[in-house]
Amino acid sequence: MCGIVGAVGDLGPGQELVPSLVDGLRVLEYRGYDSAGVAVEIDGTLATCCRAGRLANLEESLAAEQLGPAASAASAGIGHTRWATHGPPTDGNAHPHMDSARRVAVVHNGIIENYAALRDELEAAGVTLVSDTDTEVLAHLVGSRLEAGEDLASAVAGTLRRARGYYAVAFISPSCPGLIVCARKGPPLALATWAADDSGRGAGAYLASDVLGLLPHGRQVVYLEDGDLALLEAGRVEVRGLDGKVRRREACTVEWEAEDAGLGDWPHYMLKEIHEQPDVLAQTTFERIREEAGDVVFEGNQWSDESLAGIERVQVIACGTALHAGIIGAYMVEELARVPVDVDFASEFRYRDPVLAPGTLALAVSQSGETADTLAALRLAQELGGRGGAICNVVGSTLVREVEEVILTHAGPEIGVASTKAFTAQVAAAFLLSLRLGRARGALAARTARELLGELRGLRPCMERLLSGGLLEEIRACAARFGESKGFLFLGRGVNYPVALEGALKLKEIAYVHAEGYPAGEMKHGPIALVEPGMTILAINSPGRVAEKVRSNIEQVKARGGEVISVGADAASHAIADAVLAVPECPELLSPLLNVVPLQLFAYEVARLKGCDIDKPRNLAKSVTVE
Ligand code: G6P
Repeated sequence: MCGIVGAVGDLGPGQELVPSLVDGLRVLEYRGYDSAGVAVEIDGTLATCCRAGRLANLEESLAAEQLGPAASAASAGIGHTRWATHGPPTDGNAHPHMDSARRVAVVHNGIIENYAALRDELEAAGVTLVSDTDTEVLAHLVGSRLEAGEDLASAVAGTLRRARGYYAVAFISPSCPGLIVCARKGPPLALATWAADDSGRGAGAYLASDVLGLLPHGRQVVYLEDGDLALLEAGRVEVRGLDGKVRRREACTVEWEAEDAGLGDWPHYMLKEIHEQPDVLAQTTFERIREEAGDVVFEGNQWSDESLAGIERVQVIACGTALHAGIIGAYMVEELARVPVDVDFASEFRYRDPVLAPGTLALAVSQSGETADTLAALRLAQELGGRGGAICNVVGSTLVREVEEVILTHAGPEIGVASTKAFTAQVAAAFLLSLRLGRARGALAARTARELLGELRGLRPCMERLLSGGLLEEIRACAARFGESKGFLFLGRGVNYPVALEGALKLKEIAYVHAEGYPAGEMKHGPIALVEPGMTILAINSPGRVAEKVRSNIEQVKARGGEVISVGADAASHAIADAVLAVPECPELLSPLLNVVPLQLFAYEVARLKGCDIDKPRNLAKSVTVE
């Protein structure tokens, strides 16, 4: 939800500041793509270039030298890619914003909630504001403090003390060449600094909304925490509170490589990430499996027998795709560990005055570890006495830092806005946790656990075959045949009900068609009224305790003229369907890991045929750091 970058100093041989800001924005574009802009400090003045629309528009303007011919001499710069909150996506509302005297430029991710009052105050003092954004007030307030003689850090601190809301912000000013002042409350912000090295690179520093933007610059990263303000100069960072007191922040090492975030020869990140799933499954699970013992071991002895001893209940909290993975996790925990589980949308949990039973594990599931609703719900659960745990993909993210125990999903950077491989990794991690909890509580026999872990290992080659075999042709044929349907109903039952939700979400997100995920058994209480010729039903069914029931649902749909695509490993369902997307058979509890793959690819193919922008679907952002 908006991405910000900043750079100062030497970015490496042949690396100029402005192209490097644009490179950073390209990596962060998944956070919002309504407009993009940069501001640089050159010889005591500020120059900006801002364009509505995709980053390509900004690049066009930069190529036409809109920053001026001297842009290559810039000493510091900031950049922004926008997901609009206040004001439409126009050139004028694009960040960076400046004060009237061009003393300061700012980029901002977040919302200044009291901006209207601050704006009134500025206007009463004769200031003319030129955009509809909440952010612009920050530029004017900092500008007036600079005019009064404050230095940039104290002007920013003084302004932020007056701002209510959430922000990751970065400021530059010609009054302080070579300095970026940045701060964080809510949305994430990560920094990398480096000293001059043997490769000929001089000292420098870079900031970005997430580590993906920093990867080309180093893997030692400092994450700012809420309330931090940092002075970033070439080779050096100083972190303070808004009260000016110095704070110590340790750097941590990022596991990801810059190449992991590249597209390679793939046409879209989503397709690349779907195809990475067999490896992701292995990376998230294999090293943790102790097949002999029929158990799982997590790093640092987390989730040990002792730490799980008091867990009597689990409250899953998440948003979007991560919530669907969390619902699957709930089925797994109840079946393998016999511990009751509640699942809630984080955005609902945080506002519904929830009651938490003693011994509750509040388990947040999140790819980014930065989703505002998930963080707020988790904090509330912790305040209510819950023990905080997380399944998360980003080392050093806010979520990971705030919980007692974490299972890191080793999915690598996920760039496609529609989540795919992160989902697989979350489901696999939830399975490991369920199994561990079952073993710790004595609810799961070693033999059963051993068998399940063996089956889990076997899923990798199954998934590989799925992604390299004839299924792809069948999916393309289904997309061509059913893609123009008037509506899509995804039905699943038991552990495949959340898979139906996920399949429908994928189709909505990237192909912009109406799709509904529903528990198959509930169809007769409403959605069946929608069934008629021209309506496509995707029935997800795997051999197991509800397979026969779902077969009956398929018959009910067919009796009313609906066309059915049978997804899964239930041969009897395939036999009565109009089209089949078959996956290999595996234990019912693990079947979501295979069944979701054809649904992801179906959504991808429908979106491709419709010519949609698959990696950047309209109105969405990957990391939702505002409410
Ligand atoms: C957004 C993304 C989804 C994601 C959800 C939760 O809606 O578009 O793909 O599932 O946020 O994000 P998280 O990072 O918490 O998993």
